[in-house]
Amino acid sequence: MDNRPIGIFDSGIGGLTAFKKVRQLMPNENIIYFGDTSRVPYGGRSSDTIKQYAAQDIRFLLSHQVKMIVIACGTVSANLPPILQQLSVPYTGVLQPAVEAACRATKTRRIGILATAATIRSCAYEKAIFEILPDAMLVPKACPMFVPLVENGYIQKDCTVTRMIAEEYLTPLKEAEVDTIILGCTHYPVIKELIGDLVGPDVTLIDSGKEAARCTQSYLEEKGLRTHRTEPGASHFFVSDTVDSFAATARIFLGRDIGRDASHIDINQY
Ligand code: DGL
Repeated sequence: MDNRPIGIFDSGIGGLTAFKKVRQLMPNENIIYFGDTSRVPYGGRSSDTIKQYAAQDIRFLLSHQVKMIVIACGTVSANLPPILQQLSVPYTGVLQPAVEAACRATKTRRIGILATAATIRSCAYEKAIFEILPDAMLVPKACPMFVPLVENGYIQKDCTVTRMIAEEYLTPLKEAEVDTIILGCTHYPVIKELIGDLVGPDVTLIDSGKEAARCTQSYLEEKGLRTHRTEPGASHFFVSDTVDSFAATARIFLGRDIGRDASHIDINQY
C-alpha cells in the first residue's frame, strides 16, 4: 500500500488523455499533473533539448514525492532523458504500451503512426513495432500542426481548420490502407473523434495515453503500490504558463472545471 500521488507530465494539455484514464481506472489515487505549457510544443525541438526539459519535469514531480511517473508525452517517450536511469521510483512512457496494443489490434499488419516530428525522426515507434511484428508495413507521419491546434482549443469534431489539416496528414495512411493507427502523441486523442470520423469505423485508433494509464494500473497493482484510501483521490494540475488557457481547454476535454485545482510554477527552478 502506498498513499503517495501518481505523477503525470506532458509538454501541455495532451497528457490529460492519460490523466483522464488514470483517474477513471484508479479513482482513489491522488494525482499530480504537470503541463509544461510555457515550452510546448516539444515535438519540433532537438533530442537534447527534449531530454533537458523532461529532466526538469521529472525533478518537479519528484519534489511532490510521487510514487510513479507517467511520461504522458510521446516525444519524451521516444527521447528518454538519462535521469531515468537514476530514478528511485518506477516510470512508464506511452510508447511501449501503445505499440503492444497496436500489435494486438492489427489484422493486416499495416499500421500508421501519427506523432510529432521529433518522435518520427527518432524511429522509436518503428523499432518497437518491428521487435514484435518484424514483417509489419508501417506508415509514419509527422503532424506538426496538431499540437498547436489542440493547445488552442480547436478540438471539436466539426472544426473546419482541424479537419482540413487532418485530411492532409491522413492521406498517406488511407492510401496504404492501414487497419490500425497509433496516436503516438498524447495530444492527438483529444481530437480522436475527428480523426475517427475521417478514417472510418474499420480503422482501430490506439490512444497512447490510455494505454499508458492501463500499464500504470497493472504495475501499481502487481507491486502492491495502490492507495488504501477509499475516498475519491485529489488531482492537482501545475502548468509553467498561465493557468487560464490550460483550464479552458481542459474544461472542454475533461468536461469539468479544473481552475481551482490548477497552479502556475516556474519550471526553471527544477
Ligand atoms: N503530447 C506530446 C507528445 O505526446 C508533446 C507534443 C509536443 O509538445 O510537441 O508527443
